[in-house]
Amino acid sequence: MRILVTGGAGYIGSHTCLELLNAGYEIVVIDNLSNSKLEALKRISELSKKDFQFYQADLLDKMTLEKVFLKNNIEAVIHFAGLKSVGESIEVPLHYYHNNVTGTLNLCQTMERYNVKKMIFSSSANVYGVPERVPITEASPLSAINPYGRTKLIIEEILRDLYGSDNSWSIALLRYFNPIGAHESGRLGEDPNDIPNNLMPYINQVAIGKRDKLNVFGNDYDTHDGTGVRDYIHVVDLAKGHLKALEMVIPTKGIDAFNLGTGTGYSVLDLIKGYENATSKKIPYTFAHRRPGDVDKSYADVDKANKILGWKALKSLEDMCYDSWRWQKNNPNGYDE
Ligand code: NAD
Ligand code: UD1
Repeated sequence: MRILVTGGAGYIGSHTCLELLNAGYEIVVIDNLSNSKLEALKRISELSKKDFQFYQADLLDKMTLEKVFLKNNIEAVIHFAGLKSVGESIEVPLHYYHNNVTGTLNLCQTMERYNVKKMIFSSSANVYGVPERVPITEASPLSAINPYGRTKLIIEEILRDLYGSDNSWSIALLRYFNPIGAHESGRLGEDPNDIPNNLMPYINQVAIGKRDKLNVFGNDYDTHDGTGVRDYIHVVDLAKGHLKALEMVIPTKGIDAFNLGTGTGYSVLDLIKGYENATSKKIPYTFAHRRPGDVDKSYADVDKANKILGWKALKSLEDMCYDSWRWQKNNPNGYDE
């Protein structure tokens, strides 16, 4: 029996594939490489010393999906494949809805035809919109404030309707907070195209000298130092959360949502300080205007994942910062050697 990983060449997918192989699972990966490189998959094989089947295919291509399920004895699906830039989703919403929502519909229809009814879906803390209070529990109100977040919310609802119609499905909706960090080997990490939007990849590029300074978006938020607070989580801890979710999803039935974060909020200035301490690199910064759409504080209540999945993030801010830097230093051009 194999685990199908969609989007397995991407940032979170690649780290999860490695953990799955190391734990003895057989995997099959589908990725169209629209936001990732084949090199990541080669490195997963190199690190795990295991081979696996890869299909360079799009979830919008139903024929290939059919072939993947026909040729492989798939037990469960971990569904990472999707577009994830909030800014881009505002510019090209139809592209986001088609890729993320239609792609997921195609996947679920094929799963249903092959009687594969176990799924882990990559949702996002974005589904909480502007949180009324922190820490955010899974029962907090949901609202989408941009097309990207709306694709996640729509997919969560589609999956709930699917379970409502057929109680033999088993689905975990994992709502990730802010994944950062990289594998400790320095061989897998986040490889953004163009100028990074997110904080840690930007800090990495300042540290390596590709950018002069960081713009800190806003210093008048309602937080301990005025800068935005987020729940940063090490990508390897996050990857391990998927294995715990798989252990729950395979033997049971139902649908449930889980926050995956550390439960601790750090500000932008805390992260800069943590990075400087962990790496001895200086990160010059200036304060800039708030970024539209940003919230002041977002961090998770992680009790549910802790109690039900038996999962807890273990890595520290120092680990996250040092591992991010090691990846950047060893791979100044990402996967393009
Ligand atoms: P990523 O872009 O690195 O990985 C996504 C992968 O999916 C890429 O390799 C891409 O090529 C592939 N893909 C996209 N559309 C596809 C399609 N139609 N068919 C086949 N492959 C396709 O992103 P990531 O950071 O690893 O995120 C993985 C998932 O987690 C995404 O669904 C994302 O929305 C979600 N998520 C990410 C974050 C984050 O901060 N990174 C936070 C919350 C949720
Ligand atoms: C962003 C997305 C969110 C997505 C998440 C992970 C927006 C509005 N939100 O969230 O939907 O789920 O990425 O992919 O894009 N910051 C700076 N300078 C920078 C970059 C960021 O000060 O150059 C600040 C931000 O204002 C924020 C914090 O750093 O306070 C974290 O930003 P980021 O890494 O982009 O994550 P989110 O804003 O949480």
